[in-house]
Amino acid sequence: MDPTVAEEERRLARLVRAHDRWRGRAVFNLLPSENAVSPVARKYLASDLAGRYTLPIPTTFDGETLENSYTGTRYTDQIEALATASAARLFGARCATVRPLSGHVAALSVLATLVPRGGRILAIPPGAGGYDGYAPGFVPSVLGLTVGELPAGGPGHAVDGEIAAAAIRREKPNAVVLGQSFFLFPYPLGPIVDAAHEVGALVVYDASHVLGLIAGGEFQDPLREGVDVLFGSTHKSFPGPQGGLIVTDREDLFRTLDPALVWRVFDNAHWNRIASLGQTLLELERCGREYARSVVQSARELGTALAREGLPIVTGPDGPTRSHQIHLDRPALKASHRLGTGALARKLERQGLLIDLVGRIGTAEATRLGVRPEEMARLASLLAAGGLRGERVGPEVRAWRRTFRSLRFA
Ligand SMILES: Cc1ncc(COP(=O)(O)O)c(C=O)c1O
Repeated sequence: MDPTVAEEERRLARLVRAHDRWRGRAVFNLLPSENAVSPVARKYLASDLAGRYTLPIPTTFDGETLENSYTGTRYTDQIEALATASAARLFGARCATVRPLSGHVAALSVLATLVPRGGRILAIPPGAGGYDGYAPGFVPSVLGLTVGELPAGGPGHAVDGEIAAAAIRREKPNAVVLGQSFFLFPYPLGPIVDAAHEVGALVVYDASHVLGLIAGGEFQDPLREGVDVLFGSTHKSFPGPQGGLIVTDREDLFRTLDPALVWRVFDNAHWNRIASLGQTLLELERCGREYARSVVQSARELGTALAREGLPIVTGPDGPTRSHQIHLDRPALKASHRLGTGALARKLERQGLLIDLVGRIGTAEATRLGVRPEEMARLASLLAAGGLRGERVGPEVRAWRRTFRSLRFA
């Protein structure tokens, strides 16, 4: 017999509780695409704002000029203004918007409004650690753009400034899209920006993975290094609710971009998310520097410790990483242990250690929990014992996890 609706409601409640207990209390989350949202920011996600609209865009309706299509928005509009101002301060930018619903939507927002239809972009291909969304058939085909390859052929998918600059001068695109999903090392932005501006191309930087590090003064400072527009997800190294933001110093570009978003890329911007993001932005203004420093230091320590434990790790021009990510060396893991990253990740998941199936490990959420750089050796030894040697580390993982009861930097 099919379950009744009431039974399905009870099952749904059980599933959400079980998820919260498991992911919130029983595991170390080392997925670099995720983070833990602070208690206050979570509270705002569940506030009344979750069901509300505002559209503070002047329109003419029946001959009457309206400031907003909705009433009831007196606090919502102030919340947006507060979050936007905090984003501008945190990234030292003249202009900001916190409206994009995700990193992908931020990318769509930037490219749809600043690159003409039929135009050409250069992006790092997925085979070199680039984001799948920029591959032909995805964002470029949605927006009627063609895409060429921005090379990232160094160790750890590092970008060589001269090689990238030569590709830009050869291809003369409308925009160069920087950013990777496998993102270990900062870019040599000087030669890239010079070449792009020489051929009249914009430089836009998808910081989805490293946004929290940039906010905290780590990794690199794209706007000061000449990038035109910086955007990304607000929930990977940036420890906020799922969403996106865009910042720029180029007021001329922002005047084109910002008014063109609503009704082209999205309508309602989800104001509970924006209140929650506002809280995270303020938290990072308060202690983002210490957070970002600790995340990167932990990633470097963890990479070194994993290699010592016999887990093969990708290394590049500057050690294992300068970001929150570490990459397992897939060919070396196959050769030395006959093990794929998928099988390794599933083994670790059963022991309460979450890494992703494509071999990325991240330190952002562990840092928020309070795991310190000097404890990375212990984490590395659990990962190696559970993943490579098949030892039963689950009980130790759970006992250690229970000692972290609140979030730092929140
Ligand atoms: C570089 C990059 N850009 C954009 C995205 C999409 O982000 P979101 O999931 O916030 O839409 C991702 C997702 O992993 C990414 O790695």
